[in-house]
Amino acid sequence: MIKIIFYAVSCHLWDAHLEIALYHYLKLTIMKTEVHNNQYFFKLKNLIFIIVFLAANSIFIRSFAQQRTPWVTPKVNQDIKNPIPADKTALADGKAMYTANCAPCHGDKGRGDGPAAAALNPKPADHSSATVQSETDGSLFWKLSEGRNPMPSYKKILTDKQRWELINYIRTLSKSTNKGALAK
Ligand code: HEC
Repeated sequence: MIKIIFYAVSCHLWDAHLEIALYHYLKLTIMKTEVHNNQYFFKLKNLIFIIVFLAANSIFIRSFAQQRTPWVTPKVNQDIKNPIPADKTALADGKAMYTANCAPCHGDKGRGDGPAAAALNPKPADHSSATVQSETDGSLFWKLSEGRNPMPSYKKILTDKQRWELINYIRTLSKSTNKGALAK
C-alpha cells in the first residue's frame, strides 16, 4: 500500500496519469487474489483500498495545485525587446494565429475562458488582465516559447516572428484602454 502511495505521488510529480498507478495497483491485487483462497475477503479489501486510494489522490492533486510555484521568467529573457512592430499586418497575423492556436484555452478575447479551460488545472492565464499586461514583451515571449504544463511549448511550432506577432496581438486584448499605462 505504501509503495502504491509513493507511486501515485511520483506519478503526479512527473505529471503522469493516475490511471497508470491505479492499473499497477489493480494488477498487483489481482495477482494476490489468485494466490489466496479467500477471494471475497480480498475483493472487499481491494474495494476499500481503491476508495481510500482515490480519496488520497484527489487530496494530492489539490495540494499540488496549490503548491504550484509562480511562473517567473529569467531576467535576461524579460529584458528582450520585441523586434516586430505592431503594425496592421503583424496584428492581423497575430489575431489569426491566436484564434487558431490559443483561443481553445485562452478564449477568443483572451480572458482564459476557452472551451478547453474548464478541464485544465491550472486555468489558462487571462491575457486581458493587469497581471499579464504588466509583464514585459520579453517575459510573455519566453513563456509562450517554453510553455508549462498544460500550456504547450511553442518554440518549435511557431517561428520567432510569429511568436512576437502573437505578443503584439495579446497587447490589444488589454482590459484597460489606457495604453500609456502599459507602455512601461
Ligand atoms: C492547452 C491549453 C493552452 C493553449 C492551447 C495555450 N495556452 Fe497559454 N496558458 C495555458 C495555461 C494553463 C497557462 C497558465 C500556466 C501556468 O500558470 O503555469 C498559460 C499561460 C500562458 C502565458 C503566460 C501568462 C503569464 O503572464 O503568466 C502566455 C503568454 C500564454 N499562455 C500565451 C499563449 C499563446 C500566445 C497561445 C497560443 C499560441 C497559448 N498560450 C496557447 C494554456 C494554454
